[in-house]
Amino acid sequence: MNFSISFATTSYIAAIALFILSLSGLSQHATSRRGNLFGMIGMLLALAATALLIPSNGYEPLIVALVPGAIIGSILASRVAMTSMPELVAMLHSFVGAAAVLVGFSNYLGGSAGLSGSEETIHQLEIYIGVFIGAITFTGSVIAFGKLNGKISGKPLMLPGRHLLNLAMIVAVIVLGVIFMSSAEGTGLMYLLVMTAIACVIGVHLVMAIGGADMPVVVSMLNSYSGWAAAAAGFMLSNDLLIVTGALVGSSGAILSFIMCKAMNRSFISVILGGFGTAEGVAPAAGSEQQGEVTPTNVDEVAEMLSDAKSVIIVPGYGVAVAQAQHSLAEMVKILRDHGVNVRFGIHPVAGRLPGHMNVLLAEANVPYDIVFEMDELNHDFPTTDVALVIGANDIVNPAALEDPSSPIAGMPVLEVWKAKTAVVMKRSMASGYAGIDNPLFYKENTRMLFGDAKKNVDALVVKLRELVAA
Ligand code: TAP
Repeated sequence: MNFSISFATTSYIAAIALFILSLSGLSQHATSRRGNLFGMIGMLLALAATALLIPSNGYEPLIVALVPGAIIGSILASRVAMTSMPELVAMLHSFVGAAAVLVGFSNYLGGSAGLSGSEETIHQLEIYIGVFIGAITFTGSVIAFGKLNGKISGKPLMLPGRHLLNLAMIVAVIVLGVIFMSSAEGTGLMYLLVMTAIACVIGVHLVMAIGGADMPVVVSMLNSYSGWAAAAAGFMLSNDLLIVTGALVGSSGAILSFIMCKAMNRSFISVILGGFGTAEGVAPAAGSEQQGEVTPTNVDEVAEMLSDAKSVIIVPGYGVAVAQAQHSLAEMVKILRDHGVNVRFGIHPVAGRLPGHMNVLLAEANVPYDIVFEMDELNHDFPTTDVALVIGANDIVNPAALEDPSSPIAGMPVLEVWKAKTAVVMKRSMASGYAGIDNPLFYKENTRMLFGDAKKNVDALVVKLRELVAA
């Protein structure tokens, strides 16, 4: 038994170190695979060490939970399309929330054996806070899942007096908490149950009030909550590994939410209080009627422009993921670079539908890391760029963000592609992007629209470019 405990403690420390190495590896393209591997080994070690601590008569429930969980998880993860990843992540967060609630209740029902005085008070407080955060995370994540996969409308639910309602619910949670803490052992269950119901309603209400365009921040915020819920469960179970891992997830989720808010020029508080954005893919809203004529172009013209260019900046967006155009794009880039064209990618922090979405796609297609740049690194280079090629992107290249203070995305930093000699926009139609607003870029004099599916058009460009460079 002693050996098991010291082995588990050592494994926990090793797992914590591996999780930290994993996070630091994931912050760079070149080291991200290694980062993932560290995380996987750390998790395996954590599971094995925890299993070792379980008394041998406890293996049956462990196997009953672990085996189907591992099978279902592997099937879901291997089947999920990259574009549906945020939904899967939201669903997984809901499990963490539900787990924290269940751990809290089982801890409470198990009694605070052997604890008294301040230790008992702290134990009760851990349970109360853990269940509270867990319940909000659970229902909030279920609603986020529904909004992301379209089962629930992306429109924000604006109940009259909603801020007052939230405040009233928070006050009720605090009052119930005081009563729960002062009730004798075993008699506070009712208060815990009522608080859980209120926290579930808060989770639903908070996320229902948030519009489609802010959902990425919400998912990362729920990620942070799920981390804190796990840390709270760690306190309840006196499990150091769970506390540290929960804190790592909680704080990295909070930092990511902050970075995303900055990238969208949204204040964190206004995101949490909700109300911005509608469903995606709709025609531009009435009132934002077309602002002029667009100039369509064709594959031959664009291929000539590209092969004659000295420098090209490609701005990929969500449409690249939808069309799965990344491999064709990598091929096109190779032809152009072999032809002596300086080709670079400009990546917006919220391009696509999940953090790092474009980086993942480009890495999958083996695009060299050294030609992939963050928005801030090359935004000032557009005036000296011959062709800015926008592929399946819309909101992240919308000049209204900088030029129209009344625009819903006003103040959001964007890639200033219209400053290039020519901007070519590849998309299927004039439909809006995620924020559901018109894009004045399409009507600029130096903009050319290449309509059609991104993959089909890039494939056609590859064929034409091969002819041109061979000639
Ligand atoms: P969007 O603004 O959504 O624009 C994508 C464009 O791709 C659409 O206008 C669409 O136009 C086009 N498209 C779709 N399928 C295509 C296909 N098969 N071939 C060619 N074009 C296609 O995307 P974005 O510019 O990447 O901006 C991201 C937006 O999503 C931001 O508003 C951001 O706040 C939000 N968001 C981001 C995240 C994260 S964390 N990255 C998560 C959720 C939401 P057509 O229909 O005309 O083709």
